[in-house]
Amino acid sequence: MNTVQVKDKQFSLYISEDSLLKRVKEVAEQINADLAGKKPLFLVILNGSFVFAADLLRDITIPSEITFIRVASYEGFNSTGEVKQLIGLSQNIEGRTVVIVEDIIDSGKTMQELLKMLEKENPKEVHIASLLVKPGNLKVNLNIPYRCFDIDNDFIVGYGLDYDHEGRNLRHIYKVIE
Ligand code: IMP
Ligand code: MG
Repeated sequence: MNTVQVKDKQFSLYISEDSLLKRVKEVAEQINADLAGKKPLFLVILNGSFVFAADLLRDITIPSEITFIRVASYEGFNSTGEVKQLIGLSQNIEGRTVVIVEDIIDSGKTMQELLKMLEKENPKEVHIASLLVKPGNLKVNLNIPYRCFDIDNDFIVGYGLDYDHEGRNLRHIYKVIE
């Protein structure tokens, strides 16, 4: 199936499930080597990262913990700007080695806000693992040591990523046909 329809748009096959799994395993092995002995806490950012996280974490062989959080935006009562809020962080991360598991870093603004919120909890160190990065759109300076694929600025869907809430369950990653 080389093209799929999601809502009003057509998408073509971009990264196959086989290539995804192969690369995700390589990144997991990098994490196993780098963070051995640190008992990392993996912070999986819902919703988009659920498929990536399930594959990545099954290839993690060092002692570790996994938890799931959300970054929500809301309009502050008296403010004009968007305020980001962390939902679901129940663990104490003080002194911990944290690995954020994210689906895609586009402008990088979500990740930057998240790092700011996490720093307040005094973790020992925070690393970023992202399935995809769009380097051409990055607006902030981020160190992303664990990244599976750098991609162009095209809109993609599948393997956890959605187009208007649909398409997350597609096995492969597809790119929009303009
Ligand atoms: P950022 O703050 O610009 O880095 O935005 C990251 C978020 O935008 C991701 O967590 C996704 O929810 C969404 N996003 C960015 N690019 C895509 C895409 O190509 N497909 C689906 N979602 C995307
Ligand atoms: Mg996301």
